[in-house]
Amino acid sequence: MAVTAVVGLQWGDEAKGKIVDLLTDQHEIVVRYLGGNNAGHTVVCNGQTYKLSLLPSGILRDSVVSVIATGVVINPKALLEELDSLSRQGVEPGRLLISDRAHVIFPYHLAEEAALERRRGEKAIGTTMRGIGTCYRDKAGRTHAIRMGDMMRPELFRERLEDVVAQKNDILRALVPDHEPLQAAAIYDEYMQYAERLRPMVTDTTAFLHHALKQNSSMLFEAAQGSLLDIDHGTFPYVTSSNSSGCGIHPGSGVPERVIEKMIGVVKAYTTRVGGGPCPTELEDETGQHIRDEGNEYGTVTGRPRRCGWFDAVATGYGARISGVDCLAVMLLDVLSKLDELKICEAYEIDGERTTDFPSHIDELARAKPVYRTLPGWKKDITGVRKLSDLPSEARAYIDCVGELVGAPVEIVSVGPDREQTVRG
Ligand code: GDP
Ligand code: IMO
Ligand code: MG
Repeated sequence: MAVTAVVGLQWGDEAKGKIVDLLTDQHEIVVRYLGGNNAGHTVVCNGQTYKLSLLPSGILRDSVVSVIATGVVINPKALLEELDSLSRQGVEPGRLLISDRAHVIFPYHLAEEAALERRRGEKAIGTTMRGIGTCYRDKAGRTHAIRMGDMMRPELFRERLEDVVAQKNDILRALVPDHEPLQAAAIYDEYMQYAERLRPMVTDTTAFLHHALKQNSSMLFEAAQGSLLDIDHGTFPYVTSSNSSGCGIHPGSGVPERVIEKMIGVVKAYTTRVGGGPCPTELEDETGQHIRDEGNEYGTVTGRPRRCGWFDAVATGYGARISGVDCLAVMLLDVLSKLDELKICEAYEIDGERTTDFPSHIDELARAKPVYRTLPGWKKDITGVRKLSDLPSEARAYIDCVGELVGAPVEIVSVGPDREQTVRG
């Protein structure tokens, strides 16, 4: 495999981390190109559990070069804590490169986000409160943005930070009347310490990736979040603030999408969603709770219970189309093993009309009634299965139905969190 990409096709937490980890031994470079420490990827291998957030999952193998590319927003404190925590777990990370074009998250981003989410009340987006959206907003707005490259230039950084913090204090005072002003000098001192630790890793990652491509190095692009959380194509405004579908690879890394030879779409065998926004197949009943318990569906980053429901082939098919996937990895199939029968949403009924198109406005999505196809359950433990032919026929029929309705062949099936618990087609 030369250049591969892994993207989530639902609302995140599809178990992308496991697939990326499985594929890293076939790639020399692993690239994370979007999002920040809003992501939470759990990787289980050799009996150890690793929680990754900002770091590419390639970091777990010392032979791999991990790249945090241009499209990522970086909280340097969180990044260093993550590196320290891995080192406490005995991981000797391989080489890590960080883009000097990546934007930096500061305390005012977190303060602004908290104020804005509070103001939205019931309509809160339900963000991870990591300052992701407010940092991306400053990136798009340009006037308040600070990049990793700026942080590497102490004098320029000091000047810029003083200017931005003064303006941010004005904005925050307007949002929160009793706002305690942030001190530019204190932030500068703190961030300069981070800058010194990160300096050896900060570089022009775009140039690095292009040199690597010229040398035919193998590369794996690792997405965070999911296609339906994409800022342009997702369930706006209940989305994240970057292009979290396959559409984000080019802007986020500087590598043209046409060099990608295989785009793998990762899907959960059912649906989960964290935060606000419509989710047509959500089950607010015993079955939903059963899936949450069996799948341990609680957020890695915020610990929030994930909203659970049946597999939604309309939403996932749309995610697959905008991301342009070649095949699917169907994850957490084992979670469904105790259910008598299973449902897959094959169409929506909106205002009496049946459609397989995913609505562009959440008003319609909120009114979408799922039209289900019912399939028998397999009622067997499948966590030990390693060959497709050893899966119960009902489980194979379920996977075939997912592939058919989403419109891409299923090449990988996951039957447990461990690296080994994987069935390849
Ligand atoms: P990501 O954000 O897409 O990487 O996904 P998360 O790591 O947030 O969530 C997926 C969760 O499912 C993690 O806790 C994984 O360890 C776990 N997991 C991955 N594959 C399987 C599987 O096939 N079965 C079960 N039961 N758990 C899995
Ligand atoms: P991984 O990479 C699931 C959701 C948040 C919220 C919305 C916006 O683990 O799949 P943000 O903090 O990004 O501004 O929040 O997006 N969200 C995720 N949901 N998995 C994620 O990442 C997510 N990252 C953000 O819950 O609804
Ligand atoms: Mg996750």
